[in-house]
Amino acid sequence: MKSSPPSSQESKFKSFKRESHFINFKGLAPFLLASLFVTFIFSFFIFYSPIPSSVTTQRQQLNHADKVTPIKTPPRIGFVGDKECDLFKGHWVHEDRGSFYTNSSCTTIPESKNCFKNGREDVDFLNWRWKPDQCDLPRFEANKFLKIVRGKKMAFIGDSVSRNHMESLLCLLSQEEVPRDIYKDSEDRFRTWYFPSHDFTVMSLWTKFLVISEEREINGSMSGVFDLHLDKVDNSWSQKIRDTDYAIVSNGHWFFRKNYLYEDGRLLGCVYCNEPNVTELGLQFALRRAFRTALRHINECADCKDTVALVRTFSPAHFDGGNWDSGGQCNRTSPTSEGELRLEESFEWELRIIQVEEYENVGREVRDGKRFGTLDVTRAMLMRPDGHPNSNWGNKWMRGFNDCVHWCLPGPIDSWNEFLMALLENFAGFS
Ligand SMILES: *[C@@H]1O[C@H](CO)[C@@H](O)[C@H](O)[C@H]1NC(C)=O
Ligand SMILES: *[C@@H]1O[C@H](CO)[C@@H](O)[C@H](O)[C@H]1NC(C)=O
Ligand SMILES: *[C@@H]1O[C@H](CO)[C@@H](O)[C@H](O)[C@H]1NC(C)=O
Ligand SMILES: *[C@@H]1O[C@H](CO)[C@@H](O)[C@H](O)[C@H]1NC(C)=O
Repeated sequence: MKSSPPSSQESKFKSFKRESHFINFKGLAPFLLASLFVTFIFSFFIFYSPIPSSVTTQRQQLNHADKVTPIKTPPRIGFVGDKECDLFKGHWVHEDRGSFYTNSSCTTIPESKNCFKNGREDVDFLNWRWKPDQCDLPRFEANKFLKIVRGKKMAFIGDSVSRNHMESLLCLLSQEEVPRDIYKDSEDRFRTWYFPSHDFTVMSLWTKFLVISEEREINGSMSGVFDLHLDKVDNSWSQKIRDTDYAIVSNGHWFFRKNYLYEDGRLLGCVYCNEPNVTELGLQFALRRAFRTALRHINECADCKDTVALVRTFSPAHFDGGNWDSGGQCNRTSPTSEGELRLEESFEWELRIIQVEEYENVGREVRDGKRFGTLDVTRAMLMRPDGHPNSNWGNKWMRGFNDCVHWCLPGPIDSWNEFLMALLENFAGFS
């Protein structure tokens, strides 16, 4: 048995935090150029820009203005058996249990997350189990999961990390039943899978911001700068959630860029814009309003009567020693320890708090049959810098950039579906 890994390397959060103490507009120019490149070639990938922090005070004011009181039910915490337990507060323990599947037993692993095919050799990162402080998280059981979701429809709403989550679920479930690929758009953004023996449908509904966004054209080319309509839900997903039993809502990474923010058609301000006549509102503001709009939409959606909506909280990236475009890496091979976490200082944790608050916000006025919950993965995943494709593992699709955003399959992202299974059981128990 290994104990918790040593804190030899500077943790990512520290450097993240350090960067966030100044506004690096110099860094924005290469960022925008690279945005163009990425927008055209890897438009499905998401990435970081430098993180300005001038927004701290505004953010605090906004947070306070928006504070809501927590609700009692449905529970944010999970239950295991009848034991109440915060599933999401805990640590990783080393256990020789390997993965549920391999790249040969799951045939749907996308190339970009097939780390072993791409040369990853260390396998020990698969031998960690998430241990909530007060209970044990039940292991994933494909047949049990499929039993719970028989006859149901599940939608993963969000960016490519949301799709990554669905891809993990497909691999886990395919050990019991191989799904049919029944819909795929040209960019693999909208995808639907069907498990005929269990009449279970799972789909990925792709959206950058959850709300309507328009990319600005500057001098005839796409700029990577967006106008966000924070009060208008993105139709590309909202029109497809009819009869959805489970909606898993996430997002965050696309907000790390220059954006202009609108409500009711009026410009409210911007993020990373450095313009004297436009108020810098911070990406926290944008994220909060986008989640509020999305969750409200689900709550008020008449066509989604009994939907269970889960907010999957922010999934951290782990660029160490630089940003995504300046040589940042994620080459660790074991988790960081609980002791290394500095949640109060972590920007990711701040985003997670916003998402949880918006869940609580909508939870106060839950409409007929709807139920809300959180799939609160941020803390657990902050400890898993070892779970990304990086590029050491021969991952060439990023062409020289490291992917420290998405997660290897198999890998620690599979635990999200253990959380999900526990939550679905809870919700089944509550209905
Ligand atoms: C699976 O990974 C191994 C390396 O562990 C690789 O040789 C093989 O090509 C991969 N297979 C598939 C189908 O991805
Ligand atoms: C657009 O093109 C003009 C003329 O070539 C140039 O002066 C200007 O800086 C360009 N604007 C941007 C935002 O790139
Ligand atoms: C802000 O100033 C710029 C440059 O003068 C101008 O192009 C832009 O329209 C102004 N924006 C607003 C919202 O007034
Ligand atoms: C791992 O990443 C760190 C930080 O970016 C870097 O200094 C180190 O050289 C990397 N190690 C390998 C083996 O690539």
